[in-house]
Amino acid sequence: MTTVEFRTPDALAAAERWTAHNYHPLPVVVAEAEGAWVTDVDGRRYLDMLAGYSALNFGHRHPDLVAAAHAQLDRLTLTSRAFVHDQFATFCRSLAELCGKDLVLPMNTGAEAVETAIKVARKWGYQVKGVPDGQAEIIVADGNFHGRTTTIVSFSTDPEARADFGPYTPGFVVVPYGDAEALAAAITPNTVAVLVEPIQGEGGVLIPAAGYFTRVREVCTEQNVLLIADEIQSGLGRTGKTFAIEHEGVVPDMYVLGKALGGGIVPVSAVAANRDVLGVLKPGEHGSTFGGNALACAVGSAVLDLLGTGEFQDRSARLGAHLQAGLEGLIGKGLVAVRCRGLWAGVDIDPALMTGRQACERLAERGVLAKDTHGSTIRLAPPLVVTEADLDHAVAQLAAVLAS
Ligand SMILES: Cc1ncc(COP(=O)(O)O)c(C=O)c1O
Repeated sequence: MTTVEFRTPDALAAAERWTAHNYHPLPVVVAEAEGAWVTDVDGRRYLDMLAGYSALNFGHRHPDLVAAAHAQLDRLTLTSRAFVHDQFATFCRSLAELCGKDLVLPMNTGAEAVETAIKVARKWGYQVKGVPDGQAEIIVADGNFHGRTTTIVSFSTDPEARADFGPYTPGFVVVPYGDAEALAAAITPNTVAVLVEPIQGEGGVLIPAAGYFTRVREVCTEQNVLLIADEIQSGLGRTGKTFAIEHEGVVPDMYVLGKALGGGIVPVSAVAANRDVLGVLKPGEHGSTFGGNALACAVGSAVLDLLGTGEFQDRSARLGAHLQAGLEGLIGKGLVAVRCRGLWAGVDIDPALMTGRQACERLAERGVLAKDTHGSTIRLAPPLVVTEADLDHAVAQLAAVLAS
């Protein structure tokens, strides 16, 4: 086996040459990372203000998570679900308790967890609610992002995600995001679930008006429809609470989790629900070879221990307020709007100045990594271990980019 070492331009050219172009990365080649900072192959340091789209909520290589992974690597990594391993119940119990639900079903990627939620909701619809076979409907929101499988892109409203991937899976109804009355009006006797992001991340960190989820919860309860919260990006401390939907005191019927659950080390996702919902699955009806593997469960348990302290939720709330104040100071100085919840911000740049992509390129030149979404919006989601000084640095660099 040959190991090839590349410096930045060569590494970029080789990546371009040998991979499908399903991403358009910034021209940064990361070699090492710790906490909120990464170092590229040429030794340049960058503040990571994206945190793997929230997969790195606890920062790069959090010592507790690395230690849990190392210890598990030396004992057992995978059994498949054909057998039970000694990390499984501990992880599943801790996650069920965190969610306040009876049961969990572990998977790997976010999209797999969303697929799991869809299958469970449909089966619940047929077996518990009594929907006629093949007629189940799931309501989703305009501007959603739930992943990239053929079924999930079937109900995307983003032409880039959807076009040319048909034929599409039927059974989904799209309503405007944030409009509870439109959602209520779309419910039919065949509606089994509402699948919604508490905050739309890919959409640009869109936060629905207060009262939206309270009303959606009421409607779902009245109409015997499952409320499924996709907390893959918004959950696990990102917004200053364990779950973003908690900001309204709402409890969904099913949580869909991913990203940070794997501590930035392994892909870990899951759904959590009560027995009357998740109990509909029988052996052979759903699964994954790697889902709930020993390494994933060991790291996942260490993640849940960190969340159990409440420290990260507190940091996110406190530092998020600081970030928000800094960003709001740039409104009228190149920014037209800022939406913030905890350490998660959607920042709209004046489109007359530059695109979001251009802003991210210029930020990267100044040692700050962020990601654009939808034209002139950029998304900031630093690791929750970031410091106040780091955030001041990021805001100062953004100010300099906007002034340039
Ligand atoms: C809200 C939401 N759901 C689902 C997904 C899909 O997760 P994955 O990329 O792990 O399949 C994402 C990924 O960004 C997401 O933000």
